[in-house]
Amino acid sequence: MQEKLLEAAITARLRAYAPYSGFFVGAAVLADGQIFSGCNIENASYGLTSCAERTAILKAVSEGVRTIEAIAVVADSPGPVSPCGACRQVIAEFAQRSVPVYAANLSGMRRTWTVEELLPGAFEARDMMETTPQ
Ligand code: THU
Repeated sequence: MQEKLLEAAITARLRAYAPYSGFFVGAAVLADGQIFSGCNIENASYGLTSCAERTAILKAVSEGVRTIEAIAVVADSPGPVSPCGACRQVIAEFAQRSVPVYAANLSGMRRTWTVEELLPGAFEARDMMETTPQ
């Protein structure tokens, strides 16, 4: 499955819209046995950019699939590309802590993290539930 996800991410990367950074990224998530892929989509208002990981996750969720079982991300980076902080938070919303995140570059360098390794102690829904107002 790791190979299929990485292949889907490589294909999605070809659709990246990155005229500002020139940095093309592809991602793919396995959710409910299906693969959802995504690319980074930039905007002239730079902060509105969607990273490839978030594009893929939002596609899965908007199709009604919320439980992510594995994630892959690929870029033409010096080493395996590392998800940004915002994406780590979004990943943590829909993936258990043990879920693998497979990162690769186009030269074939690879690295795998768990969601917990990427964002230890993530802020989650239960953090709000456990709060007692003063
Ligand atoms: N980017 C991603 O899509 N995923 C990452 O993990 C890192 C960064 C995008 C955002 C922006 O379009 C470009 O890469 C440069 O930051």
